[in-house]
Amino acid sequence: MVKAVVAGAAGGIGQPLSLLLKLNPLIDELALYDVVNTPGVATDLSHISTTAKVTGYLPKDEGGKAAFKDADIIVIPAGVPRKPGMTRDDLFNINAGIVKGLIEIAAEVAPKAFILVISNPVNSTVAIAAEVLKAKGVFDPKKLFGVTTLDIVRAETFVAEIVGEKKGEDLTIPVIGGHSGETIVPIFSQISSGAKIPDDKYDALVNRVQFGGDEVVKAKDGAGSATLSMAYAGYRFAEKVLKAAKGEKGLVEPSYVYLPGVPGGEAIAKETGVDFFSVPVELGVNGVEKVTNPLTGISEKEKALVEVAIKGLKTNIEKGVHFAHNPP
Ligand code: NAD
Ligand code: LMR
Repeated sequence: MVKAVVAGAAGGIGQPLSLLLKLNPLIDELALYDVVNTPGVATDLSHISTTAKVTGYLPKDEGGKAAFKDADIIVIPAGVPRKPGMTRDDLFNINAGIVKGLIEIAAEVAPKAFILVISNPVNSTVAIAAEVLKAKGVFDPKKLFGVTTLDIVRAETFVAEIVGEKKGEDLTIPVIGGHSGETIVPIFSQISSGAKIPDDKYDALVNRVQFGGDEVVKAKDGAGSATLSMAYAGYRFAEKVLKAAKGEKGLVEPSYVYLPGVPGGEAIAKETGVDFFSVPVELGVNGVEKVTNPLTGISEKEKALVEVAIKGLKTNIEKGVHFAHNPP
């Protein structure tokens, strides 16, 4: 029996993500948690004739604990999104506390769950999650993931447009570092098909991947940030985690993980000087099976991008760790 939880299930990402999870035959029970509207969303989804039994929970009567209890996978898109003119870090003051609270519940009633953090700023919220789990004595770094898949999806799409590939999803393009602006580093020198980005298009393409989120925020004009493409990306990553947990091999996707705690991560932590970094992760039955060093053989331009990313990440990670130990 596989139990999946979406925390923030009534939101812009939460609803389409819950729909996609409802369609996955690997899931037997889908618990939807939010501070509003989950009874309605759950009842609506429950009429779809696929396997998963759908339940909805609100905070009253310890609904969070009931929703999370014995979950195998918890996906967290809870929290406020950006409006034009804001950075992801501007969301920290509200979302840090939301993520901390949700991870505390997970630590108590679902300590063995895979936890996928979508809530921004991911660079900091994953560090908060790790510290909370450590403090509760249940931190398994192989099971905590910052979801950066949308950056990879964007890179696939934008590169496909340039190189004339019909299906961007057939390309493998490592996007590493973090999930905000200049901490996002696409590694175009390692595109699976060997496709080359023309020199005159390189800088604009890097910029578009790094600031793709802003493109959506601007177009939505105050109504939020990416929701549908994020639901797709979050689902794609969750599906890989679930398939790997069932024993499927060879599933690799970059994710923002705690390097010192995962096989292959220690050397990358030493090289970068940061403990959290998005790297290609090979998934297995217990989560991260191993990570590969994406810095090997990168170009000079990519090295320069990584340097800038590391600076930003250091600040974001320290902020998260500090918050976890000194909540307001
Ligand atoms: P939204 O406002 O539409 O939905 C958020 C939901 O979270 C709401 O339904 C809200 O009620 C709920 N919520 C708030 N506090 C909660 C709590 N304590 N417990 C449970 N639920 C709670 O926002 P959205 O567009 O779905 O975005 C959600 C988050 O995802 C934002 O922080 C956004 O920046 C982030 N995001 C991340 C990525 C990524 O690539 N990682 C991509 C897009 C958006
Ligand atoms: C994204 O990349 O679309 C998300 O992180 C949302 C945002 O704030 O841009």
